[in-house]
Amino acid sequence: MISWRKHYKKGLVAIGLLLSTSASIYAQGDAANGEKLFKANCTACHALDKQLVGPALGGIVEKVKTEQNLDTDWLHKWIKDNKALRASGDKYANEIFEKFNKVEMTPFPNLSEQDITDILEYTSNPPKPAEPAADAAAATDANSFTAMEQAKRDSMNGKVIIISLLAICGLLIWLLVRLRQLVKLQQTEELEGLNATRATSFSDLYKKYSYVGKGILTLLAIFAAYGIWNWLMWIGVYKGYKPEQPIYFSHKIHAGINKIDCQMCHSSAKYGKVSEIPSMNVCMNCHRNISEYQGKYFEPGKDKAFYDAEIQKIYAATGWDAGKQQYTGKTNPVEWVRIHNMPDFVYFNHSQHVVAGEQAIINSFNKKNPDAKIDVVCKACHGQVDTMNVVQMANDFTMGWCIECHRTTEVDMNNGYNKEYFKNLHDKLKKQYPQTEGKITVDAIGGLECGKCHY
Ligand code: HEC
Ligand code: HEC
Ligand code: HEC
Ligand code: HEC
Ligand code: HEC
Ligand code: HEC
Repeated sequence: MISWRKHYKKGLVAIGLLLSTSASIYAQGDAANGEKLFKANCTACHALDKQLVGPALGGIVEKVKTEQNLDTDWLHKWIKDNKALRASGDKYANEIFEKFNKVEMTPFPNLSEQDITDILEYTSNPPKPAEPAADAAAATDANSFTAMEQAKRDSMNGKVIIISLLAICGLLIWLLVRLRQLVKLQQTEELEGLNATRATSFSDLYKKYSYVGKGILTLLAIFAAYGIWNWLMWIGVYKGYKPEQPIYFSHKIHAGINKIDCQMCHSSAKYGKVSEIPSMNVCMNCHRNISEYQGKYFEPGKDKAFYDAEIQKIYAATGWDAGKQQYTGKTNPVEWVRIHNMPDFVYFNHSQHVVAGEQAIINSFNKKNPDAKIDVVCKACHGQVDTMNVVQMANDFTMGWCIECHRTTEVDMNNGYNKEYFKNLHDKLKKQYPQTEGKITVDAIGGLECGKCHY
């Protein structure tokens, strides 16, 4: 009898241990949260291991400590508002600004101290990359594929470990409850009765306890279903995906520094379902005259010769002879690598968002992000493209992402289209939901209906 109790205690200790390991996973969640924040806010300009627009940030805490004798307090100030820090006359802040050709880093006043601590934790202790699946990497374009795999794994590993641990705990608790019932039984007169049903051989035992096995199998099945669901949810998702392009075309130089309107090149966004990549003729409208780069901005690591050579590629592609100022007729189509690509079963229409939804989306985005206001509707979904030398996916572009915005964005009932089209509906909804004072989010006009987004 005593031995039963002993086991019971041991069981409790085991559960305690398991719970504490899962708790410690949560504690390390800082770096994971930091990674998320880093990817959302910083990867446009920083990488951990190499210089992009800004310096490499791997081990930055250690670096400013040893090289500049500055502590994390300085980093917090810099990240929150580097401009203010420079204005305060801080020596190192001004030094590094000069060193990077006075390229301004975005201030991040909306990041909390904890957020910044998390980001710094990530730069000091980035999670080790998992081994890429050898066969998968070989099968597809190596870089982009592994980056995508990595993103998937990172997000799944943590969840799977925690859920597995919880499941194991559950199993243990259940076993202990059973044991305790047995202990109680032993203490009663029913012991006799129990003895009668006692297993006498291994096969008896199996028969009696096969439900344990079944239980485990069921659990495994649940895990598998969970894994498959996760995998499905990640189809086509590559936030941060930025492949190498045949011409090094910089959005920062065009849309940012030279303030060329997005729609000058992506004009079809306004009228159609897709927002196309401009043809080489559009480039030639300007580059017939701009054959050299004479800008002051240089992305670290690039020089005038590099940009000039890239501009020459436009001439090679269109068969333009700059010396004779005429086309030779020999063309070489440029094959841009597509970055955004929804699965075929999804219907997404740019004009619905860029024309009908424009004001609604801008207003709602600016209300949600008072510190990162946008002027151009495209940025609500594509991020600050005009600061990116290389475009990358700024959001997950999952179903959940579409729906989240539809739930929270108020439709602009006063734009010409909706005023006309939805007048009756609007009045009806106003009566139906008086508490919303006639405020109507996209879900109310059908933005959550499966058929609107799926063929
Ligand atoms: C628009 C581009 C841009 C973005 C976005 C950006 N940075 Fe920077 N960052 C820079 C540049 C450029 C510098 C170099 C100093 C300068 O020119 O102002 C820099 C410098 C830094 C430094 C100082 C590094 C050193 O060597 O001392 C830190 C730390 C830093 N950034 C952190 C961040 C973090 C964290 C984020 C995201 C929350 C971020 N940055 C987002 C461009 C950017
Ligand atoms: C001077 C022409 C030009 C201007 C202006 C321009 N783009 Fe682009 N855009 C391109 C070209 C060329 C590509 C394809 C190469 C690449 O991905 O960088 C592209 C690619 C993109 C992509 C990725 C497309 C894909 O493959 O999924 C997005 C998103 C995008 N642009 C958004 C914008 C936004 C937003 C603006 C305004 C802030 C803008 N562009 C301004 C020429 C332009
Ligand atoms: C509305 C005018 C305009 C259009 C259209 C345009 N560019 Fe440019 N491009 C510029 C300007 C301005 C510069 C910067 C020149 C300078 O600062 O001396 C530039 C610079 C460049 C450079 C060197 C810097 C960099 O981004 O790497 C490349 C390459 C380039 N353009 C490619 C293209 C391609 C490809 C297209 C068509 C998809 C295109 N441009 C369309 C105006 C334009
Ligand atoms: C409501 C979100 C949203 C807004 C606003 C938006 N886009 Fe997009 N954009 C997307 C989605 C989603 C895709 C992927 C579409 C696909 O793969 O079928 C995309 C794809 C693109 C592409 C790649 C070509 C294509 O159509 O697949 C370009 C270029 C682009 N967008 C440019 C723009 C420009 C320029 C604007 C502003 C005028 C803009 N987008 C506004 C969500 C948006
Ligand atoms: C940034 C916010 C935002 C995001 C993200 C977004 N939408 Fe929308 N969407 C809107 C707004 C606002 C409208 C309403 C436009 C109007 O006034 O008619 C809308 C309307 C629509 C409609 C028409 C609904 C109807 O009943 O008329 C469809 C279909 C749609 N969106 C599909 C998508 C898909 C697919 C995605 C994801 C790939 C997506 N949207 C992502 C804001 C968004
Ligand atoms: C606002 C647009 C929108 C609405 C409404 C919507 N979906 Fe989706 N759905 C998407 C997008 C975008 C994807 C592709 C997501 C991706 O690539 O990860 C998707 C993917 C899916 C998938 C594939 C699994 C996955 O998540 O990738 C299924 C199944 C699905 N949707 C079912 C539904 C059902 C059922 C409804 C109605 C209750 C619905 N959807 C309503 C936009 C929508």
